[in-house]
Amino acid sequence: MAQATAAGKGLEGVTATTSAISSIIGSTLTYRGIDINELAEHSTFEEVAYLLWYGELPSQDELDRFKQELVSHREISSETIDFIRRFPRDANSMVSLRTAVSALAFADPLAADMSADANNQKAVALLAQFPVLVAAIHRLRCGEEPVSPDPNLNEAANFLYMLNGDWPTDSWARIMDIALILHADHELNASTFAARVAASTLSDMHSAIVAAICTLKGPLHGGANEAVMKTLESIGSVDAVPAYLRGALERKDKIMGFGHRVYKEGDPRARWLKRLSSQLADETGDREWYEMSELMEQEMKADKGLLPNVDFYSASVYTYLGVHRDLFTPIFAVSRASGWIAHVLEQYENNRLIRPRAEYVGPAARGYVPMSER
Ligand code: COA
Repeated sequence: MAQATAAGKGLEGVTATTSAISSIIGSTLTYRGIDINELAEHSTFEEVAYLLWYGELPSQDELDRFKQELVSHREISSETIDFIRRFPRDANSMVSLRTAVSALAFADPLAADMSADANNQKAVALLAQFPVLVAAIHRLRCGEEPVSPDPNLNEAANFLYMLNGDWPTDSWARIMDIALILHADHELNASTFAARVAASTLSDMHSAIVAAICTLKGPLHGGANEAVMKTLESIGSVDAVPAYLRGALERKDKIMGFGHRVYKEGDPRARWLKRLSSQLADETGDREWYEMSELMEQEMKADKGLLPNVDFYSASVYTYLGVHRDLFTPIFAVSRASGWIAHVLEQYENNRLIRPRAEYVGPAARGYVPMSER
């Protein structure tokens, strides 16, 4: 097939919009100008979502109000829960999530209202409902009833609580909180671009977010974290890592969780997730997943000069937290929903239809050939 030449293939290096939300310079990722290292150290997911949407860190009062609003929107209608109940038990969890988020629009009287006020209300409701949906999808397919949200818990702790039915330790809740902070936004990644394209047609917020979920699902984007865990499981032990990598690289397989379109000197999120994975390996006394990952990192750097991306160590982090790998990409979506929404709101604020051109490389102009002459 002919390759696009006018712009780099895959739009590499193309600046498609301006945005004041997040930026990547070298190996530094900032949200509204603040380094994610500082945010991961000191902030919370709620504070980060507020920062992404409104441009500034909240005051204590603003944060308290925002958290309260999120808590008050966690309820999912019984119709939506009954709809999820009818999903096939073996459905892919991202397929379930995109279907469930789409169905949220039926229960939202503001779904088609494009006013700024309605969009702000939908933003809060959607962000609050993502974790509730993911937990409900998981529990119902396991034959268990959804766990009602606990209004005393923050988003990260409540998510783990609704998934497992047990209150997480402070340490695990904080690790989930940091993971949500690290995944919250990432400039014009593929799913965010998809959300902005949908929003640019003045399609509604639920539709734009569903477009983003569909795009996150693929293994070259958010689906890589699940693929990493499948790889680790298939390798099985630290000793088996070198032979696996030799074989896979000889076959020219892509090793999931390595490489990045933008970061060439390392993904700052991966460094954090590596640290969290090591901490959990110590806390659980099960070092195998961490040590396999660390050896893969060393060998990939030595063999290919490729470094881990956000999806690599998040796989072992979530596994240590007791989450099944089929939920890794939905967890990414729980967090990235904050960034998608920020971008959709930014797109609506200063919209112009996103409609690029393609360089035509097909046959030259020719006539229609009647069926009898073919
Ligand atoms: N494993 C093995 N080789 C890889 C690789 C990987 N994970 N990522 C990139 N490479 C190699 C490519 O084969 C290519 O080599 P070549 O020049 O000899 O053909 C070179 O590095 C450039 O890769 P390319 O696929 O053109 O980069 P890209 O910018 O189009 O793709 C990714 C970026 C992220 C899609 C790609 O690195 C990848 O597929 N990684 C695995 C999936 C993943 O982890 N995705 C999550 C991203 S956050």
